[in-house]
Amino acid sequence: MRLVFLGPPGIGKGTQAERLAGRLSVPKISTGDIFRDAIAGKTPMGLKAKSYMDAGHLVPDSVVIGVVEERLSREDVQNGFILDGFPRTVPQAEALEGILSRKGLTLNNAVLFEAPEEEIVRRISGRLSCPNCQRVYHSEHNPAPGQTAEGEPLCACGARLVRRKDDLPETVAERLKVYRSQTAPLVNYYRAKELLVSVDAVGSIEEVTHDLESRLSPGKSYDHLKIKRGDR
Ligand code: AP5
Repeated sequence: MRLVFLGPPGIGKGTQAERLAGRLSVPKISTGDIFRDAIAGKTPMGLKAKSYMDAGHLVPDSVVIGVVEERLSREDVQNGFILDGFPRTVPQAEALEGILSRKGLTLNNAVLFEAPEEEIVRRISGRLSCPNCQRVYHSEHNPAPGQTAEGEPLCACGARLVRRKDDLPETVAERLKVYRSQTAPLVNYYRAKELLVSVDAVGSIEEVTHDLESRLSPGKSYDHLKIKRGDR
């Protein structure tokens, strides 16, 4: 299955992508994680992306598209993939269509996660991220599995969890603004292609996964959900 996950920052795309990718045995490809790894590794791409990310702005299309094209050329995407946080602009969506069509492939769906802004802000303000393996936790809803002797939260991989730099309130406000102006137009883009599926992201992590899977599971009546069954 080839899916893209759309939705505002902090709504839970990454959390759901991780769970569904595990169940479908396909890779979760997060452009945000790729850039954070590149920043940690101080690569030229990381250095380029850092200033945009810290300001809550999008990394230029030319950089992101190249990164995704390279990632989609690897072996492990043969049975599908979940793209988390890409595309984020109409030119990125058009580029993705081109990359896939050159391989004779199409997307199965674009999944849109929806929730009120207050809930999004609550989720981001409690988020704890692992700088080592990129797992994500929440101080209340998804607590860290361990802690140091001083009570600092620890990831399952043993690394100390951190707050993301772009999760500061003023940067979150900018990211939401950027989402509304540059990414929200993708909703109509994918609706026009009859690929859009909406998921109610309010509720526990398990409830959202259940809603997501019920919309994607094979054997259901897809017509009323506007899901295209084009898996080739
Ligand atoms: P990216 O890393 O993609 O960030 P984002 O889209 O802003 O999304 P987030 O990672 O903030 O949130 P999420 O929706 O994945 O939520 P999560 O699962 O963590 O991008 C970062 C930056 O990189 C961008 O600003 C940009 O600069 C750059 N970039 C990336 N892709 C790009 C592109 N394509 N083009 C240009 N630039 C790009 O959940 C959030 C919290 O809520 C967690 O604590 C989680 O535990 C908790 N939670 C999740 N679900 C629930 C639930 N149901 N109930 C309660 N809590 C929940």
